[in-house]
Amino acid sequence: MTGPRPRAVIAVPLAPSLLDQLSDFDLSVVPAGRSDDAFETAMSDAEGLLVSSHVPVDRAVMTAAPKLRVISTMSVGVDHIDLEAARARQVMVTITPVLSDAVADLVMALITMLSRRIPERMRAVADGEWSDHPLGGDLAGKVLLIVGLGRIGQAVAARASAAKMLVRYVDSRDDVPGAAGVERVGGLAEGLREADFVSVHVDLNAATRHLMGAEELALMKPTAFLVNASRGGVVDQTALVRALGDGEIAGAGLDVLEDEPPHPDEPLLKAPNVIIVPHIGSATTETRHAMAQCAVGNLIKGLRAEESPFAVS
Ligand code: DGY
Repeated sequence: MTGPRPRAVIAVPLAPSLLDQLSDFDLSVVPAGRSDDAFETAMSDAEGLLVSSHVPVDRAVMTAAPKLRVISTMSVGVDHIDLEAARARQVMVTITPVLSDAVADLVMALITMLSRRIPERMRAVADGEWSDHPLGGDLAGKVLLIVGLGRIGQAVAARASAAKMLVRYVDSRDDVPGAAGVERVGGLAEGLREADFVSVHVDLNAATRHLMGAEELALMKPTAFLVNASRGGVVDQTALVRALGDGEIAGAGLDVLEDEPPHPDEPLLKAPNVIIVPHIGSATTETRHAMAQCAVGNLIKGLRAEESPFAVS
């Protein structure tokens, strides 16, 4: 490489072996958000930026980085990035779609925990009780509605079909490929009325914010469970607290919340029959390593002005 080496800001912790792969570039390793001066200063001559979903990349960050050409995010979600600003500036944005299995495993764990009442039974054992009642429910024969049959939705469908669930889906896109044995339903309302479990797998954007609101929750059966491992904002949390409290639905399994971490007074934390885990869908050693490797590969491609199959803008 002749001339000055392109500079990139690395705003997530990376293993030394991954940093070595970036030795053609000048790196500023600044784990940060935009309130941090060091981050803004480093961005002033950065051509590349590597972030995770915890680092907001809004218009102000992009304005602070006039030379920026690529934002490589170590996530599949891009709701932390102002995509419109990136497109206007022709900044390439890349994602790491290598986490579907890990997220789908977690979704099935939440579904199983809810249906077999595992948290409740665990609490009872800890309180000195040893009883197999009240009984849980089988997964076989139960209807699972997948809202959004993208990569993760398909991975959930495969697992649920193996568990002999009756898998249905809705998707706002006409051109989703579908999956063997998975039936498309006419619309969200129809799907919600029939489902025993609803699992949400959509991006968070203006069209999907509060997609699961009071009206949608009211359509679900009182025996049905909601699972969300996409983004907290897809579910109206206030409506969910009410639906759980009123017994409008039987329970919820959540990997994501509208605010992460939640305020200690967040009512959902005390709602009945809710399982909340701290955004751990992709949190396995293998998957996080694959995501970091993919993000580094994407950053290199962007800095070399090459195409990436994982570019979303
Ligand atoms: C993703 O990749 O979007 C996961 O939710 C981790 O942030």
